[in-house]
Amino acid sequence: QRNQLAPTPPMGYMTWNYYADKITEQDVKSVADAMVANGLRDAGYEYIFIDDGWQGGRDKKNNFIPDVEKFPSGMKALADYVHSKGLKLGIYSDAAPLTCAGYTASLHFETQDAKTFAAWGIDYLKYDYCGAPSDQATAKARYKTMADALSASGRNMPLGICEWGGRQPWTWAAAAGGSLWRTAGDIRDKWAAANDAPGTPAGGVGILDAVNINAALDTYAGNGGWNDPDMLVVGLYGYKGPSGDLGGVGCTDTEYRSQMSLWCLMAAPLMVSCDITKMNAVTKQILTNKDILAIDQDKLGKQAVRKIHANDWQVFVKPLENGETAIGILNTAGTSRKFETTLSQLGLAGKYHTYNVWTHEEKQQQQRLSYTVASHETVVLRLRSTK
Ligand code: DGJ
Repeated sequence: QRNQLAPTPPMGYMTWNYYADKITEQDVKSVADAMVANGLRDAGYEYIFIDDGWQGGRDKKNNFIPDVEKFPSGMKALADYVHSKGLKLGIYSDAAPLTCAGYTASLHFETQDAKTFAAWGIDYLKYDYCGAPSDQATAKARYKTMADALSASGRNMPLGICEWGGRQPWTWAAAAGGSLWRTAGDIRDKWAAANDAPGTPAGGVGILDAVNINAALDTYAGNGGWNDPDMLVVGLYGYKGPSGDLGGVGCTDTEYRSQMSLWCLMAAPLMVSCDITKMNAVTKQILTNKDILAIDQDKLGKQAVRKIHANDWQVFVKPLENGETAIGILNTAGTSRKFETTLSQLGLAGKYHTYNVWTHEEKQQQQRLSYTVASHETVVLRLRSTK
């Protein structure tokens, strides 16, 4: 029943957190060049998702047009450029007359816009829900209308559903033709909203908040349809966007590594959002670790089950296609703690070879796990049964 436009979770770069609605054609080209130069493309990040702010309204025939100042060469030329780099181009619209940032959107123009996107060579659509009615039936209908229009256009364009989880999209989004659906509000560059300093204006969710919403939805994810806890904030280091309103407080490298770990365990789409034209070595290492990416992209398509959800610990178990198992151990406490369990308590009988995907440490014949885990760290292991 699910379309397979995104058989594994989509990976790419999303422009919103860094460029916001100031995004230009030159920025997109720089991102494409950077993805090639810094190895993101070769690690598997294949899309550039242009977010809100590209639109320039409609022409006399109601055809969607880009902002001519930001995109002087037009979208077709930009898609050609992106394709020439071995990458794909995503675009953004909204299921209402206007987008969240107030630009032209696609309600009642779905068929025409889908044809335009196809003619430009677009490869993905993120479809937002600002300015649309709050009931579930309307959301479902509007997303299905756009998914059908995309499909009728004759070009493969997975649909990303962005209604923030309020209408339980995990229960209907795949049937409406979506390839992924946001499960939470906009992520900010912070560990948890509960840690916001007094007086901080409420804004978005932190990494742990998104985990706590998304982790409970494991049964809804699968090949072709994914829970989306929103962008990776890895590498933003407190950057607040070009208008100063998109930021959190920043995270530690340990917390960024945890986000990557947890998103991969949860088979989440991986949408990088920091300035990849100037990434530091740690950011690059987090985003391109082959072992963690293989867990995200595993063909079995299972989201990890959160087997332990205690005061200071969350433990995730993700079955993999080749019979191996990925395990994540997250310490949510404010201090370093020792974690111990038998593997049988996690449903794993027998003995295991364990491989730590971040430290590369290997251990033979294990029947229990014993790890000292730093505050907000996630230890990720790949286990192979040795009987
Ligand atoms: C709300 C979405 O949740 C964000 O990811 C981003 O697309 C903005 N809208 C753009 O206005």
